[in-house]
Amino acid sequence: MQNIPIIMICREGYEDILRDEMIAKGAIQEPAGLNPPTFAPGAGLLMVGALAEAANADQFAAPFIFEQQRLETALWFEDQPLKTMARAIVVRLLPAISSQTQPWTLHAFASNPNGAQPLTQRAEHVRQVVLDFCADRFTVVSRRYREPAAFSTTDAFLVLQICVTPGGLWGAVMPSHRLSDARPGGVHRMRFDPEAPSRSYLKIEEVFERMGEAPVPGQRVVDLGAAPGGWSYAFLKRGCRVLAVDNGPLKLKDMGTARGSLTHLRENGISFTPPPAWQPLDWMVSDMLIPPGQTLDMFRKWMEHGWMRRFVFNVKLPQQQPYPVLKPIEAYLHNQSGIKFHIRQLYHDRREVTVFGTRH
Ligand SMILES: C[S@@+](CC[C@H](N)C(=O)[O-])C[C@H]1O[C@@H](n2cnc3c(N)ncnc32)[C@H](O)[C@@H]1O
Repeated sequence: MQNIPIIMICREGYEDILRDEMIAKGAIQEPAGLNPPTFAPGAGLLMVGALAEAANADQFAAPFIFEQQRLETALWFEDQPLKTMARAIVVRLLPAISSQTQPWTLHAFASNPNGAQPLTQRAEHVRQVVLDFCADRFTVVSRRYREPAAFSTTDAFLVLQICVTPGGLWGAVMPSHRLSDARPGGVHRMRFDPEAPSRSYLKIEEVFERMGEAPVPGQRVVDLGAAPGGWSYAFLKRGCRVLAVDNGPLKLKDMGTARGSLTHLRENGISFTPPPAWQPLDWMVSDMLIPPGQTLDMFRKWMEHGWMRRFVFNVKLPQQQPYPVLKPIEAYLHNQSGIKFHIRQLYHDRREVTVFGTRH
């Protein structure tokens, strides 16, 4: 067991679920000792001590389903007045940056952005004070600083991560390629479009961002469990041709001639077969409220027929023990050749996770 912990960030209230996933995958033996109040349930983080010493640590470089971000070799800073804290962070963590020549950035975020008392504002204050302190005292290193948005996903740079939690904060310096998500804290907060008929719109927009690929005009889309129409709307506004499958009513306003085309089919999405002229489709997306086993059966059928090039489907989680129901889906995906996929709990997901990927 190493002394310097890895801090795993997850959605608030999912600490146990992330821990179960990591234990089931053999990444950790058991959770390291919890240290209240930092690790109070609901704080959105989990301390693990042995991941880096696992027999094949690289196996765990890919993010876990319930992981949003990670801080390796993290240091703990107890709550103090902001300037005192900033000085301590800089003194202890800046050497890891000044000893290298790469540019760097700062990701400051709250472990509980959706909690009852989110610490997002405090994270912003710490970020500002740390940067001011660096600019005052460490001008050479400061000149290598860039805003997070200045980097692309392929750039190599260092990231000073500051994760503000109840009672203090965790800080770590990591090379960009070891982050589990390029966004600070793994937070993909998407902008809502007031014309979208449901908040689910945010989930599909987040998927497009994570895939690094948005739909383009003319693409053919099947949307299973489409009502009231948030996902369909995201495709229609980009000029796609959408078959929306749902017994429920769509609440899409007339989108004008410049937008895509919509056909509403009141059919069962589980047994739905796309019209032969549409095969293979550009996108199969599914947000049906059905049990995970039925979701897998539906997806398996689509895979066996090769009906789609890209897929996005949401898996609704049971209240108890959600990780075990995901194992068959994960196992099935891993056994498929010719696909790339991710299973992640999105920032905009609730009690659910989203699978997205491509067939080639
Ligand atoms: C969470 S909502 C979908 C929200 C939608 N993605 C949006 O953006 O507005 C789930 C939908 O799945 C539909 N649904 C559930 N079972 C279905 C099935 N077997 N076939 C088709 N639709 C189904 C429900 O009628 C409901 O409209």
